[in-house]
Amino acid sequence: MRSSTSDAHAPAALDAARAALRQARSVVALSGAGISAESGIPTFRDALTGLWSRFDPADLASEEGFRAHPQRVWDWYAERREGVRRAEPNAAHRALAEFEQRHPGTLRVVTQNVDDLHQRAGSRDVVRLHGDILQDRWLDACPRRPACRAADAGPARPPRCAHCGNLVRPGVVWFGERLPESALTTAQRLASRCDAMLVVGTSGAVWPAAGLAGLARRAGASVVIVNPAASEIDDAATHLLRGAAAAVLPQLLAAA
Ligand code: APR
Repeated sequence: MRSSTSDAHAPAALDAARAALRQARSVVALSGAGISAESGIPTFRDALTGLWSRFDPADLASEEGFRAHPQRVWDWYAERREGVRRAEPNAAHRALAEFEQRHPGTLRVVTQNVDDLHQRAGSRDVVRLHGDILQDRWLDACPRRPACRAADAGPARPPRCAHCGNLVRPGVVWFGERLPESALTTAQRLASRCDAMLVVGTSGAVWPAAGLAGLARRAGASVVIVNPAASEIDDAATHLLRGAAAAVLPQLLAAA
């Protein structure tokens, strides 16, 4: 059964989606860049404003691109890091954290985002599928035992470890790289066991994260998708709400 696409502010559509979430004993919130858009952090695929409409992901979000032009990639991530530090969680991040606090143990956030806005809004134990833009890591495995730490890095751009000579890279998952095994396994377990999944602000263009909504739906969960535009995973939805996250989530998750 799939409800039709509804204007998120249509009372009947909101009521139906709200009921599905309230009846759920376990809810997974799967977020993408769209949930942080209203905090001023650009998405990737929105026409004109998305990062990939202005930059080539192969050059900037891949190991090959970093090895070919390390300073260009490092500086691009440094600029994005500053944008994340300046940003504040918006009403959507807060609505999820407040729901979590009102219903302890019911909701887990699984995010594709590399910002820390869910955590700063108060969400706990967030499953990060694509890493953390505010963290550094070594480009190659450190040959020393114990391995060096990012604190050993120097002032260059990108920094280079003074002990093992490694280049420092952002702690995010680049195209062509595997997701952190534990994060992916946790996300798949949560998706296969939840009663409801709330999918917010993702185009559904990047796998394996994009597969989580279908996994939840096939396991019998209600799937509520909140997005002002169509996504590649809309077919997994039982409730499709066309609207912006910061406007819809506070209404959707309002205290019962
Ligand atoms: N509220 C909700 N959704 C929004 C909003 C908003 N205010 N603004 C935009 N969106 C939606 C867009 O319609 C789009 O469907 O957010 C989605 C953003 O899609 P992408 O830019 O593709 O971001 P995402 O789905 O998170 O990308 C997945 O791709 O580039 C990689 O690693 C990167 O984690 C990222 C992954």
